[in-house]
Amino acid sequence: MAFPLRFLSSLLLCLLALLLHRATVTSGCFSMEREALLDFKAGVRDTRNRLSSWTGHHCCTWKGVACDTTTGHVVMLDLRNTNTYGWELRGERMNSSLLALSHLEHLDLSFNDFSRIRIPEFIGSFEKLRYLNLSSTYFLGGIPARLGNLSSLYVLDLSVALYVNDHGDGYPVDNLDWLSHLTSLKNLDLSGLNLTDVPDWFSSVNMLPSLQVLSMSSVGLNTIPASVVHVNFTSSLTVLDLSFNNFNSTLPKWLGNISSLTHLVLHYSGFYGVIPDAIGDLGRLKELRMLGNQLTGNLSGWLEQMTNLIILDLRYNLFNGSMPSSVDACE
Ligand SMILES: *[C@@H]1O[C@H](CO)[C@@H](O)[C@H](O)[C@H]1NC(C)=O
Ligand SMILES: *[C@@H]1O[C@H](CO)[C@@H](O)[C@H](O)[C@H]1NC(C)=O
Ligand SMILES: *[C@@H]1O[C@H](CO)[C@@H](O)[C@H](O)[C@H]1NC(C)=O
Ligand SMILES: *[C@@H]1O[C@H](CO)[C@@H](O)[C@H](O)[C@H]1NC(C)=O
Ligand SMILES: *[C@@H]1O[C@H](CO)[C@@H](O)[C@H](O)[C@H]1NC(C)=O
Ligand SMILES: *[C@@H]1O[C@H](CO)[C@@H](O)[C@H](O)[C@H]1NC(C)=O
Ligand SMILES: *[C@@H]1O[C@H](CO)[C@@H](O)[C@H](O)[C@H]1NC(C)=O
Ligand SMILES: *[C@@H]1O[C@H](CO)[C@@H](O)[C@H](O)[C@H]1NC(C)=O
Ligand SMILES: *[C@@H]1O[C@H](CO)[C@@H](O)[C@H](O)[C@H]1NC(C)=O
Repeated sequence: MAFPLRFLSSLLLCLLALLLHRATVTSGCFSMEREALLDFKAGVRDTRNRLSSWTGHHCCTWKGVACDTTTGHVVMLDLRNTNTYGWELRGERMNSSLLALSHLEHLDLSFNDFSRIRIPEFIGSFEKLRYLNLSSTYFLGGIPARLGNLSSLYVLDLSVALYVNDHGDGYPVDNLDWLSHLTSLKNLDLSGLNLTDVPDWFSSVNMLPSLQVLSMSSVGLNTIPASVVHVNFTSSLTVLDLSFNNFNSTLPKWLGNISSLTHLVLHYSGFYGVIPDAIGDLGRLKELRMLGNQLTGNLSGWLEQMTNLIILDLRYNLFNGSMPSSVDACE
């Protein structure tokens, strides 16, 4: 007697649970995720009412929010500010209740103003995050090393993610060791951060074997290794931008080993001396910008080997001799 009753009641419980589950999904989104989004909204000043659609139950239809069509979980939060002056959200608080979005894969807060708070440590706990864009968000203070836990990340844009004061001084980042855990990373942009104090930056990025795009423009670097044992991304890296730094060095020969490069951007980087012939090995290069350095010597040789070049800018250097005849000079 007792057995079938218990069976029946657990069956009923199951049905009830199923119905409830259905109810939470069909009513728009999971209530915990909705609450988390409302907490986030409560922590920002939104003078242009960009989040005005963030009311009611159907959080999957809120502007900037996207849910997985099968599971109903929030997978994307895209609050990128594409407008000009005045449309930014101003972050005043961000608390860890946001972690209820445990299925989040895409987080874009770019071009909003977070200059009153720090990058929250808990961002490093969004295990499924694949895309993180904090470009021009001006957070206070440093970069939490816990970002190194985001092992699924394939895009990380931290360009100008930290506050720069009125004198143009950016908060100094002390190390990039945490980067080495992000082994899926394909696109890394650290431009505009202050990396002057980072020891051995090259080793940190050299731990990223799938890297395709690396931008470290205007980061105050003043060292570049003259020789390295092995360059790990020789067959993946297509874009390398190290412009606006103060290397005060000759061009390292190992650059010529990154045979996959199509775009090499080194303008105003403090390079001097003769360009090593090894650079001529970059046969896939389409764009080469080296203006504003103190490079000397002869343009033939290495330049004649770059048969795929479309954009070449070597202005404001100390070259002598003339352009090889194979180059159609436009200026
Ligand atoms: C997050 O903030 C909301 C209100 O903005 C508050 O109710 C909640 O308790 C906070 N949660 C945590 C974990 O701090
Ligand atoms: C990050 O967002 C900005 C726009 O807000 C965009 O220009 C940039 O390309 C994005 N970065 C990446 C790596 O997608
Ligand atoms: C990853 O997160 C754990 C806590 O969840 C922390 O102890 C650890 O230091 C983090 N790892 C990195 C590389 O930040
Ligand atoms: C970078 O930080 C250092 C302090 O470590 C500071 O001296 C320097 O002025 C900063 N540079 C920039 C360009 O912000
Ligand atoms: C990258 O190269 C360094 C040598 O510079 C080596 O020690 C390291 O193991 C390599 N890392 C990967 C992920 O291949
Ligand atoms: C660059 O390529 C040359 C020729 O293949 C090789 O001998 C050398 O070890 C490579 N250097 C690095 C740093 O990978
Ligand atoms: C570049 O390095 C040389 C020494 O190798 C030094 O004398 C010079 O002052 C440095 N220039 C700059 C701009 O740092
Ligand atoms: C060109 O530059 C090289 C290296 O600086 C120098 O040795 C050579 O004499 C120069 N040639 C001419 C024609 O100025
Ligand atoms: C430039 O280099 C090429 C090949 O290395 C050589 O044939 C040519 O004479 C050089 N020209 C000058 C002006 O030094």
